Amino acid sequence: MNPESFFSKDIKPALQNDPPGGWMPVIPEGCIRLSSGYPDPGLVPVEELKNSVVKLLEEEKDLPLHYIGSKKADGLKGILQNLMKERHMNIKSDELLITSGACQAIDLIARVLIDDETVVAVESPTYMEALEIFQNYTSRFMTIEIDENGLRTDRLEKELKERREKGEKLPKVLYTIPTFQNPTGTTMREERREHVMKLARDYDFLVIEDDAYGEVYFNQDTRPLKSLKRGNDPRVLYIGSLSKVVAPGLRIGWVAADKEFIEALSWFKKDLDHPFSQASVSQFLYEVDWEEHYTTLRKVYREKCSLLLSELENQMPESVSWYVPQGGYFVWLKVPGVDTSKLLEKAVEEGVSYVPGKYFFLDQEEGLAYLRLSFSYENGREISEGVKRLGRLIMAQVAGR
Ligand SMILES: Cc1ncc(COP(=O)(O)O)c(C=O)c1O
Repeated sequence: MNPESFFSKDIKPALQNDPPGGWMPVIPEGCIRLSSGYPDPGLVPVEELKNSVVKLLEEEKDLPLHYIGSKKADGLKGILQNLMKERHMNIKSDELLITSGACQAIDLIARVLIDDETVVAVESPTYMEALEIFQNYTSRFMTIEIDENGLRTDRLEKELKERREKGEKLPKVLYTIPTFQNPTGTTMREERREHVMKLARDYDFLVIEDDAYGEVYFNQDTRPLKSLKRGNDPRVLYIGSLSKVVAPGLRIGWVAADKEFIEALSWFKKDLDHPFSQASVSQFLYEVDWEEHYTTLRKVYREKCSLLLSELENQMPESVSWYVPQGGYFVWLKVPGVDTSKLLEKAVEEGVSYVPGKYFFLDQEEGLAYLRLSFSYENGREISEGVKRLGRLIMAQVAGR
């Protein structure tokens, strides 16, 4: 029997792509992980979650362990609506779908909107898992460069105009991470936010706004695209996640979008839910002092980012440059003349890991001289030591050219 001969014709093109997660460096024990976009282990509220689970089971007994019936699980939507309200979004209950993380939200949206004829506009570079997901559905992309102020909307406009003039297919969706972007850490400037939404109206495309890092700001909140038009722009399918502010293993994300989109997404979501996780998180969110949790989290990441940046100043040769993030988990380095994917093997031997830039680009050649460092996961001592090790390697590479 040949299993492949049974595969649907629709999935065959996707299987030609690199396998999912192929970008993840193999990291030996003891290696400093500046590659990991995971929360700081000290910020994962283990005790609080444990207490929430105990309390939940005491109060609701077996209910959260069934398919349906947990009042706490049902209450999660209301809590998320309140969290979004804090970020200037007014979302009704039927405009919200809870998903297994932001990744499932991206996948469901892709499933409902994208087929092999669809052109998807993406930032370049962008979140590699989103690229993997979109590539499961289409191979037609339009890539738009990022600079220190986020998406180059002037370039987007130029490209759209050219396509329209030439009679070429226009994108149906733009996937963007406007706030503390992965991998660049950049934030889309306010006037660009207005501009991108104007282009969406003028050229009739939808915007998928991935706001996984929106709450992780160091000093100042940024208004999501979704909020810009009376607190709920119907052109924006907004994606949120608790992975970066509570814990990724809970797999809690959501989509806020026009009711008809939510209905279509629910067709495919079915009951692929985690009622127990949703109920536990709901209990936790109900009890936690949310402001205090965020204040601590923002302080920790602000300090770790600032440490990483000062170590970069001290350890990197003149030729290396980076953007200074205002939030999020990442710093994006340009290392001219160095192929960072080749350097990774040596870096891991020296005991430090990063993610090579090429994985964040559709045309991987464009990313050879870049790398992504994460300050979220490791502690201060390890961040300093990791940057020292990497600095030595890059110095040697640059000197040996
Ligand atoms: C931009 C972006 N979106 C989504 C995710 C994944 O979120 P989740 O764990 O909720 O699937 C990540 C995680 O790294 C991310 O960087």
